[in-house]
Amino acid sequence: MIKIENLSKSYGSHRVLDGINAEINQGEVVCLIGPSGSGKSTLLRCINGLERYEGGRITVDGVTVDARRKDIQNIRQRVAMVFQRFNLFPHRTALENVVEGPVHVKGESLASATERGREILASVGLAEKMNHYPQQLSGGQQQRVAIARALAMEPEAILFDEPTSALDPELVGEVLAVMRTLAEKGMTMVIVTHEMDFARNVSDRVLFLEHGRIAEQGPSREVLTNPRNDRMRDFLKRVTHVQ
Ligand SMILES: Nc1ncnc2c1ncn2[C@@H]1O[C@H](COP(=O)(O)OP(=O)(O)OP(=O)(O)O)[C@@H](O)[C@H]1O
Ligand SMILES: [Mg+2]
Repeated sequence: MIKIENLSKSYGSHRVLDGINAEINQGEVVCLIGPSGSGKSTLLRCINGLERYEGGRITVDGVTVDARRKDIQNIRQRVAMVFQRFNLFPHRTALENVVEGPVHVKGESLASATERGREILASVGLAEKMNHYPQQLSGGQQQRVAIARALAMEPEAILFDEPTSALDPELVGEVLAVMRTLAEKGMTMVIVTHEMDFARNVSDRVLFLEHGRIAEQGPSREVLTNPRNDRMRDFLKRVTHVQ
């Protein structure tokens, strides 16, 4: 579904992504791991057209992703993104946040978007919080609203950039639980995370990025249990040590 061919991207003379090749199939859950600065966020931003790239090609269902396209909004609807900081509209309730995209971007009627929005919020465990403003919600609840907002656009895939890194430890589980449910329902997901248990248990495949290259990849359980790459082994030691 998402195809990345020989992707390269530089900031000035700094090559941040260097010949990335990867394919993400429909229904697949792929975790993207790697040290700080290895290019994980940049890769996600290239996939949904938030960032330009110079070399290679990314396609979503055969359509080339190019941040300069006038119709790039179509790609962003099909491939949603959830960020570390929840990026909710502070002056809108949870439900209003969820309804906004379908009404303003997709032209759905307010009545229909509201009805769907309620269902989606209920599905992420927020039936009781629909009329709360972001500041009245915990970080975990806000992140679940952000996921609900992505789901409301009925995307084909969702990209997550460290969705639980900004959360207090006791709130991480509720967000991961929602993501696990999505994975079980067959949602295509690419997830940047340092949650190695989640990566091992929920994702199908892991890509280990280092200096803008994929240094190792393979089935999650296999690669995370028995990494062949020395630097990946070191990396795993460090992240599991911090947790
Ligand atoms: N807008 C920018 N201008 C210049 N350099 C940038 C820009 N954005 C990112 N970079 C650089 O590109 C490299 C990759 O950054 P990126 O944010 O993709 O890394 P990351 O793997 O997501 O790191 P982290 O784990 O810390 O989030 C870094 O060296 C970073 O400094
Ligand atoms: Mg990042």
